[in-house]
Amino acid sequence: MQIIRKIKDLRRVIGSLKSKRRSIGFVPTMGSLHEGHLSLIRAARKENQQVVVSIFVNPIQFGAKEDLKRYPRNFKKDLASCKKEGVDIIFYPDIKEMYPQGYKTYVTVQGLSDLLCGKFRPGHFQGVTTVVAKLFNLIQPDTAYFGQKDAQQVLIIQKMVQDLNMPVLVRVLPTVRELSGLAMSSRNIYLTVDKKRDALVLREALIKARELIGLGENDPKEVVRKMRQVINKNKAAKIQYISIVDLKELKPIGRIKDHALIALAVYIGRVRLIDNAIIFRDVLKRNLKVSRLLRRDTFALT
Ligand code: PAJ
Repeated sequence: MQIIRKIKDLRRVIGSLKSKRRSIGFVPTMGSLHEGHLSLIRAARKENQQVVVSIFVNPIQFGAKEDLKRYPRNFKKDLASCKKEGVDIIFYPDIKEMYPQGYKTYVTVQGLSDLLCGKFRPGHFQGVTTVVAKLFNLIQPDTAYFGQKDAQQVLIIQKMVQDLNMPVLVRVLPTVRELSGLAMSSRNIYLTVDKKRDALVLREALIKARELIGLGENDPKEVVRKMRQVINKNKAAKIQYISIVDLKELKPIGRIKDHALIALAVYIGRVRLIDNAIIFRDVLKRNLKVSRLLRRDTFALT
């Protein structure tokens, strides 16, 4: 496994792989790797000749009052995990390498970046699309792997790839959860044991929504109202938003028809957590298997 810190070294190595026509699978991360990240790495390992993982806590996607300084970093452990999973290359640049003095170029997917999480984290998705565009340019992957955990991020990146004609296939893998149902996140280490228990309300609210929709409820307002009830029972939880939107434009829908994205952000104490579920009404009805959905490169029902 190679650890590359400099762009000029990365270019040399990628150039050589490209000349040998080796397929490249790429997993961008901010490190502090957990089973969610590892599921992406495993898929990349299975489907490509070479696997590149980037570890870079990207400062431009954090707001001024957010947790950039505090964000968990554990390079030694990440290294061991990557080695175990058979990663070929880790790209681990420092900030100056990615944003040298005088850096001026940003990539924005308009509209989609201002909705849901973007409403509360201005500039966040511009930071994400900018760094992912840079990483795609550097690594030139055939396939890049992302988690449904950050569904809005995936949709924005897919739009960027489409609009800028980037020759990359974006693969989406289902959210990996702890046994309790809590979605894995690097930020879960901010939670005490008690708060981790409180955090289960996000998943409980999503399960409630799925039940209601499965029973035939098609009014998003009613579903959100019941989800709020579930969450508000917990005193440690404070809802930032719950939205039921369409999967393309991320716009609120008037009626739940064949599919919908249910996304929410909730503070548990001072820690902001997100989760989501994608509902395919047909799937609920016919009880189709998740694997079939995955093969179609679409979201899983989680
Ligand atoms: P990070 O939060 O480190 O996540 C890296 C990738 O892991 C993302 O695609 C994310 O959706 C996925 N992931 C996180 N938790 C997951 C889980 N529980 N199950 C499945 N996948 C999960 O997302 C970022 O970093 C950054 O915004 C990045 C894309 C690297 C740009 O800086």
